[in-house]
Amino acid sequence: MSGKKLSGEVFYPSEEVIERAHIKDWEKLNAEASDDNEKFWEDRAEELHWFQKWDKVIDDSIKPFYKWFTNAKTNIAYNCLDVHVETYRRNKLALIWEGEKGDFQAMSYYALHRETCKFANVLRSLGVEKGDRVTIYMGRIPEIMIAMLACARVGAIHSVVYGGFSVEALHERIEDSESKVLIVQDGAYQRGKIVPLKEIADEALKRAGGIEHVVVVKRTGQDVNMEFGRDMWYHELMNLPIATKECTLEKMDAEDPLFILYTSGTTGKPKAILHTHGGYMVGTYTTLKYVFDIHDDDRFWCAADPGWITGHSYIVYGPLLTGATSFMYEGAPNYPYPNRWWSMIERYGINILYTAPTAIRGLMRFGDAWVKRHDLSSLRILGSVGEPINPEAWKWYNRVVGNEKCPIMDTWWQTETGMFMIAPMPSVPLKPGSGTKPFPGIDMDIVDEEGNSVKSGEEGFLVIKTPWPAMLRTIYKDPDRYVEQYWSKYPGMYMTGDSAKKDEDGYFWIIGRVDDVLKVSGYRLGTAEIESALVSHDAVAEAAAIGLPHDVKGNAIHAYVILRAGVQQSSELKEELKKHVGHEMGPIAKPENIDFVDSLPKTRSGKIMRRVLKAKALGQDPGNISTLDE
Ligand code: PRX
Repeated sequence: MSGKKLSGEVFYPSEEVIERAHIKDWEKLNAEASDDNEKFWEDRAEELHWFQKWDKVIDDSIKPFYKWFTNAKTNIAYNCLDVHVETYRRNKLALIWEGEKGDFQAMSYYALHRETCKFANVLRSLGVEKGDRVTIYMGRIPEIMIAMLACARVGAIHSVVYGGFSVEALHERIEDSESKVLIVQDGAYQRGKIVPLKEIADEALKRAGGIEHVVVVKRTGQDVNMEFGRDMWYHELMNLPIATKECTLEKMDAEDPLFILYTSGTTGKPKAILHTHGGYMVGTYTTLKYVFDIHDDDRFWCAADPGWITGHSYIVYGPLLTGATSFMYEGAPNYPYPNRWWSMIERYGINILYTAPTAIRGLMRFGDAWVKRHDLSSLRILGSVGEPINPEAWKWYNRVVGNEKCPIMDTWWQTETGMFMIAPMPSVPLKPGSGTKPFPGIDMDIVDEEGNSVKSGEEGFLVIKTPWPAMLRTIYKDPDRYVEQYWSKYPGMYMTGDSAKKDEDGYFWIIGRVDDVLKVSGYRLGTAEIESALVSHDAVAEAAAIGLPHDVKGNAIHAYVILRAGVQQSSELKEELKKHVGHEMGPIAKPENIDFVDSLPKTRSGKIMRRVLKAKALGQDPGNISTLDE
């Protein structure tokens, strides 16, 4: 990044990578963005289509309710599809998809545009209007992309619920969003088994009101309950005369909501993070283009799930905005064998692979031979996201998968940020385990309790000091919580909830969460949500959940449970409680281990001191326990 010699272990990019990169001189771009942040983003916005241009790039008159590209008119779905259909990209592949069973589908920009328009007409015929919420509860199949884009086209706000969530998680997200329509699959393939999404949805709908119509995509084909008047098959709706390929597009204000996405916080109730059409579009487009150096002939594989922000921004919106070909795979990485991913990279000629450290560690366990069976020479760039990547996994990824020629883009960001915030570009020297520096135009710092910058090498709270285009605008229906959660600790600074350090070269090193949020296999879960799932079982009086280090998952959930009076402890009950959490929240939230206890460490005001539990489990000193109740 600078001419000076960098400290520590450094990997310099090859001439070949620099030669091809959009951004050969990171320093220059960063200086340009720091000098005039508004102009920097305005220039990037100019590369996209607007029905009407903005009055102002940033409106900060009511902080922290920032607005971007005020009074501009656009639609992200128009930029994802219509603009390409007007060019030579019409017949280019927008999406390549492989099912877990080995089935395959490819859709050109023309085809994806057509299917999106048809489904947008279907949504309108079901009464969906601009501003209405639509819940999408699906796995990784092409129709999830069509459903999201169709919502955007008609101006509806999609709320995608990850297909790995279960009854209660889905219920509370449907209820909170006040969705009118639910789009679901009969089932999803996962490791050769069927996850009965429609059945789970039926149970959730018994608990939640408000859904008028359920659209069911047939994927696994088993018998499912179809409630007359409420449930309809996707393929039948798409064959109706109303499902024409002409569909008027809703011209959206840049600040109109595009989607809400629920994420875990410090309380039991997940937060609906709200993103908009304009700023989110500019942010995801620019970051993907520069960080993964997207060129027109690239096949980009973000191996996340569309149900999380990574999938929203970098399977669906980002790749289509840049006119790339996005690859989506339905199933498990090691199904039927541990070479599944490598085989697909070889067969489809994937150029860029973006995944999470947990997946890398999981595949690394199977050994190099599974990778080496395949020709991965199409790969040019690799990426990592979701949690800090340990140097051992970084090096394996670099050596075995990337053949020491693919730079690894370690991207730090959040559901709330919408786009990459700390990330290198291919021409930037890398240090394993660091995402390098904030993206140009992003001002981030590490501060102490009082909000003062800490010295290099010291640990502190990671904050963001300037607004950015893809920033969340609010927590849906809860603006007070938005202010309280993110902007109240230090006025004018966004609190990320992470701790971090900066080294002498200005490189950022993420340490982890400082709140009661856990990253388990890269998934974000709140300890409070796991606890409330446990407490919803009749046998449980109180519960506490913590994360303990795990070789593959990063963190594994350990729970401490106080049983109700008269309930007998048993190993069967432990298994039943794990199953119960799986049923209510989803398999990802199942505790690895449950201990029955008589009491929990609490503060005098009754808050569970999870750090005391964690220190005890790890045999460490619990630190300051002056607030611990007797
Ligand atoms: O703790 C950070 C971690 O993931 C959190 C955000 O989680 P979520 O909203 O689910 O979004 C994940 C994908 C964007 C952050 O607060 N995190 C994310 N990326 C990294 C990371 N920690 C270290 N390094 C990363 N590259």
